[in-house]
Amino acid sequence: MKKRPIIEPFRIKVVEPIRMTRAPERRRILEAARYNLFGVHADDVIVDLLTDSGTGAMSAEQWAGMIRGDESYAGAPSFYRFDAVVRELTGMSFIFPTHQGRAAERIFCDVLPLRDKVVLSNGLFDTTRANIEAAGASGFDLPREDALGGTQAFGGDIDLAKLDRALEEHGDRVALVVMTVTNNTVGGQAVSLANLRAVAERVRSITPAKRPILLLDACRFAENAFRIASDEPAERGRPLAEIARAMFDLADVFTMSAKKDAIVNTGGILGVRDQALADAIRVDLIRTEGFPTYGGLAGRDLEAIAQGLREVLDPSYLEYRFAASRYLASALQAAGWPVITPAAAHAVYIDAGAALPHLAPADLPGQSVACALYLAGGIRTCEIGTLMFGAAAEGKRQLVRLAIPRRVYTQSHIDYVAAVGAEIAEVRAKLPGMRILEEPRCLRHFTAAMAPLSPFPDFE
Ligand code: F0G
Repeated sequence: MKKRPIIEPFRIKVVEPIRMTRAPERRRILEAARYNLFGVHADDVIVDLLTDSGTGAMSAEQWAGMIRGDESYAGAPSFYRFDAVVRELTGMSFIFPTHQGRAAERIFCDVLPLRDKVVLSNGLFDTTRANIEAAGASGFDLPREDALGGTQAFGGDIDLAKLDRALEEHGDRVALVVMTVTNNTVGGQAVSLANLRAVAERVRSITPAKRPILLLDACRFAENAFRIASDEPAERGRPLAEIARAMFDLADVFTMSAKKDAIVNTGGILGVRDQALADAIRVDLIRTEGFPTYGGLAGRDLEAIAQGLREVLDPSYLEYRFAASRYLASALQAAGWPVITPAAAHAVYIDAGAALPHLAPADLPGQSVACALYLAGGIRTCEIGTLMFGAAAEGKRQLVRLAIPRRVYTQSHIDYVAAVGAEIAEVRAKLPGMRILEEPRCLRHFTAAMAPLSPFPDFE
């Protein structure tokens, strides 16, 4: 029997028009934005794949929750509904809402003694690293050597041999071990439950006085749980809520950007088991975000998060989500683009360095592909390479991330992206290198001004 297509498991109730643009107009827009896609107005974008963060579509039940939201300063019922859902999902004892994931990170780093300490991770997200460094600690990423090799199911795992060496080398200076699920800094690859267990065992074998805290950066926990249920032989077919709970059970603390797998437009969560830590966090939260029953959020946001967390573990939603990215990844591969595999759920990554061998990393091949996608089709993506990381990108791949917002685009939008990708693939040898004209002191990819070294080919 012919295999049936995996359909979007939702109907559309509210729509937003997309303003269609043509190539000559987009060329003017990109020049005015000085070839920085963060400077392009969203109205001038046809398919926006800049990020999967805060860009998802809420369900009817989430909007219903928004109406139910109670805005009392203290003790709002919306908080207690949120608290019950998050505690059931994670098993953590103390749950704190924050305005974004990075606020949860910042508060946690504030309450720990981190000066001159070491943080080990499978891959720190850039705000996590920045918060750790601002607290006076050093962060080390210990990904598997073959993380992006496409030959293993769980490229997001931490390299256990490297972890053992680092624990030995840094001893009781190691204050924190951070496991990011999925591992956004290495192509969004998933982390196996076996790897999380092995990390937890190592941490627990250290005497309590010197034991580091194990933190789960859990913003894409549902996508990670789905990969465990699909591809980890010992876990295959286990209920997703059970797998998610098993992941959280291994951690002492979690931070979560609710803008991803809670499918809301803003929000973050910090959860801990330890009473003394919770007391310190509460004081910091009140000082910087808000009273503990709302954190940096409105009551209505708490309702939307609680409902989003109930919806995200639906297997048909996650099946559709992975099907969309796999479909895009294989269409781009068929067009000749080297793509990181297996495809993550939240994004497809093009290896622009490998695709454009005529350009050196300093010529920003990723930014050249990102600009071409905009010029040819009004598609906005994000470079993850030398533009983003500067000298720290040396030896790393030059990637372009096509992030897929949750429940926003249909298969025909994805077909459109694949078709534009195929058009560019045909002229990729002609894509120009880029130069940075002006850049700020840090986080340059957000605001740097750039220019191509020679004109882009004409599209359309
Ligand atoms: N941790 C991870 C793994 C993330 O991917 C992000 C955000 C954060 C923490 C911070 O959360 O944005 O709510 O403050 N990632 C977005 C992205 C921005 O595009 O990947 P936040």
